This record gives sequence, structure tokens and C-alpha cells, in this order.
Amino acid sequence: MSLNIRIEKTKNPKTKPDSNNLKFGELFTDHMFIMDYTEGMGWHDPRIVPYGPLELEPSTMVFHYGQAIFEGLKAYKTKDKKILLFRPEKNMERINISNDRLCIPPIDVDFAVEAAKTLVNLEKDWIPEAEGTSLYVRPFIISTDPYLGVRPSITYKFMIILSPVGAYYKEGINPVKIYVETNYVRAVKGGIGYSKTPGNYASSLKAQVEAIEKGYTQVLWLDGVEKKYIEEVGTMNVFFNINGEIITPSLESGSILAGITRASTIELLKSWGIKVTERKISIDEIYQAHLDGTLIEAFGTGTAAVISPVGELSWNEKTIIINNGEIGELSSKIYSTITGIQYGNICDNFGWIVEVS
Ligand SMILES: Cc1ncc(COP(=O)(O)O)c(C=O)c1O
Repeated sequence: MSLNIRIEKTKNPKTKPDSNNLKFGELFTDHMFIMDYTEGMGWHDPRIVPYGPLELEPSTMVFHYGQAIFEGLKAYKTKDKKILLFRPEKNMERINISNDRLCIPPIDVDFAVEAAKTLVNLEKDWIPEAEGTSLYVRPFIISTDPYLGVRPSITYKFMIILSPVGAYYKEGINPVKIYVETNYVRAVKGGIGYSKTPGNYASSLKAQVEAIEKGYTQVLWLDGVEKKYIEEVGTMNVFFNINGEIITPSLESGSILAGITRASTIELLKSWGIKVTERKISIDEIYQAHLDGTLIEAFGTGTAAVISPVGELSWNEKTIIINNGEIGELSSKIYSTITGIQYGNICDNFGWIVEVS
């Protein structure tokens, strides 16, 4: 797809926020990227326009049937003012995995990366510079046919919006308390768990609300059939350090999102000569390891928080305190290495960084 993005600049630029007080996902930059899909024409009319409301008929299919997907990645500003993206092609490839499951036509991965780079470059003054801050990049696709009836839409919009962000969890890199969910389930084999589609998040809300009411930050999902095997945490994949072996649930069930931070963490650990195993792991095994004193560390991985150590798990009225509720050695080493690469402070030996020129 040839890159010819029309750019219409805003006449009313907003005041940029103080980068020391940023929260997550509340503010949006001056411009957004849009391109349309129409059956027969394919994806067309890529443009960057002033950020603002969309006009859609109330019958627009996405409102009724949820045929949509989204992604999340970040742009970082280095000390010498370079702008870096972390593995953006992986997010755009994952869009096509989600698209396939949701019957949305595929996008051109290279073009989508170029679109994100062009938008981020235009908005580079919005990239915050305070420690731990970044510009969150949210590509998404919605179905736009004005039609009531369940079938795939034949028109779509692919958009990218940007948001200057601080820490995702108020705890920052401090350990979070997680509630092991034994009532609700997130996904099952054959379902949509592996795709990044709004329905997965809508279905997670009730459990999340109840966990927060009980004093926990997030839920740990178990498999949807036996409620026995560990899947993932809210918006993170999860890793356990049992006796020096790092174990993370395998992706073969199809009910877990294949996280890009997860893949990067596995690659990093292997490069350090640490044994990493992707396999089914049950909550009973975690509890037993806790009783045996072999559960050394647990942490979540995801773009928003990067690494989030788990300090406590609550499962069936039992409390599992991990590493005395403190940040583990490995969690901090992975966190500082990945963020070091993302902010350009550590040499990227993996080829993960894409510079926005
Ligand atoms: C359900 C879920 N699992 C895991 C992740 C972590 O994925 P990534 O590392 O690509 O951000 C996310 C975030 O995108 C998520 O929403």
C-alpha cells in the first residue's frame, strides 16, 4: 500500500499537560489518524485530521454487535530527544490476528506502522519527558455499517489516537494485590480470548469491580472450564518464579492474549540463561509452591505497566504472600532492562526499537 497520508492540521492546538502529573488515558493529543474500508475499494483515504468526535448513525454496527479490535503501544522520548517505538510491527501483526477472528478485513502491517510513526512524529511535542511517562498509541478498528442484523460489516474505520500517560497502576512498580477469580471466567478455548477485542474487556468488568471492592487491584483469571489453570491478569500476562524456573501459561488454549511484553520477557530471560517454561500451570501448584517455600516471585507483563510485581494473591479465602509483598530481584531486573531499551538508555541487542524520524 503506498503511503500517501493527507494531513489537516488543527487550528486550535490544546495546552500540553504538565508531564509530572499525568495519569493514564485521560488526555488526547491534537490529531488522529483515520482510514476507511469499503467492500470493493479496500482500505482507502488515509488521513490525519484534528482530534474530535466521530459522527456515526445510532444504527452503526459496532454499537450493537461489538465487531471491533484495538491495540496499545507506546512512544518514548530519549534524553537526546529521539522518539522510539517498541516493536510496533508486533502490535500491527496482532491487529490482523484479532481482525481474522472478528471477520474484519486485514490491514497492511507496514503501512499501519508508517501511519503510527507519521502521527507520532506530528505530535512529538506531546511526548512527555518526566520519568516513566510516554505517549500511549491506541490503534483501533470499528465496524461502521448502519445496519441492524448480525453479520460482518462491509465498512470499517481504522483509527489511531494518542494519549500522554503516566503510570497505569497507582502502585507504579510496587507490588499489586491480585484476586484469583473463581466465579466469573474471561475466555474459553474456541472463543475470542486471544484477540484484542472490546468484548473480552466488557466481560471482565464485573469481576474487576468486585475485586476492587474487596481491596485488590486486579483479578487473575483461571481457565473457563475447570477453573484450575492460570490464564492471565486483567491486562497482563503472568509469570511465576518457582525455585529459579520461570513459568508462564502457554498460549495453546487460545484463551490468552499473546502479549508482546510477554514475548520480550521470555526472550530476555533466555538471553540471560534463565530457564523459562511455557506450560499449563494450575493454581493448586502455585499454592503448593507457596506452602513449600519455592514460590519466589510472581509478576505481570504488559505494555501499560511493563512489569508489575504481584505481592499477594487471594484464592478461595487463602492468602498467598509472595516475596514478603516486595519487588522481586528478577522483576526489577526485567523492568529496568525493558524500560532501559524503550527509553534508549540501554543498547537494544534484540532489534526491538523503531526510531520515528
Ligand atoms: C488481556 C491482556 N493480556 C495481556 C496483555 C499484555 O499484552 P502486551 O504485552 O502486548 O501489552 C494485555 C495488554 O495489551 C491485555 O489486554
